[in-house]
Amino acid sequence: MDFLTASTHLHITTWVVGLILFFAAAAMAADSKGRKITQMILRVFYILIIITGGALFFEFSSINAMEYGLKFLFGLLTIGMMEMVLVRGKKGKSTGLFWLLFAVFLFVTLFYGFRLPLNLDFLAF
Ligand code: HEM
Repeated sequence: MDFLTASTHLHITTWVVGLILFFAAAAMAADSKGRKITQMILRVFYILIIITGGALFFEFSSINAMEYGLKFLFGLLTIGMMEMVLVRGKKGKSTGLFWLLFAVFLFVTLFYGFRLPLNLDFLAF
């Protein structure tokens, strides 16, 4: 499955699209049809993010097991918080804490993503 690990472009594409869908869904009225559909497509992108990230992880994690492990963990946590914001928002529950956690986890995920050695590593080891 070389196409998954030859570069990080596929992974980047999936999480950029995922973030756009997340912000779009969050901006829509809680019980609108558009939001429901956007969230369904977003859930497909969660899977694509995990497949593309997971393939990179299994290929390259021996370079630095701890930092790749943290990248994996925080990537999953970011996705988890996206889901929490949307599901709680739909139920009319408060989302402030989950927006905050989303922002923190996204920052850490981006930090490790750009720090790790593939492609853009401008926060080098
Ligand atoms: C919303 C969630 C995620 C975001 C925003 C994100 C972001 C990033 C970024 C910015 C990079 C660096 C790309 C580059 O420099 O070319 C990257 C690479 C990577 N991501 Fe993710 N990611 C997410 C989810 C995940 C998940 C869930 C996993 C694991 C299943 C994962 C595993 C990886 C791996 C292994 C790399 C390669 C790191 C390297 O050596 O440069 N990511 N990601």
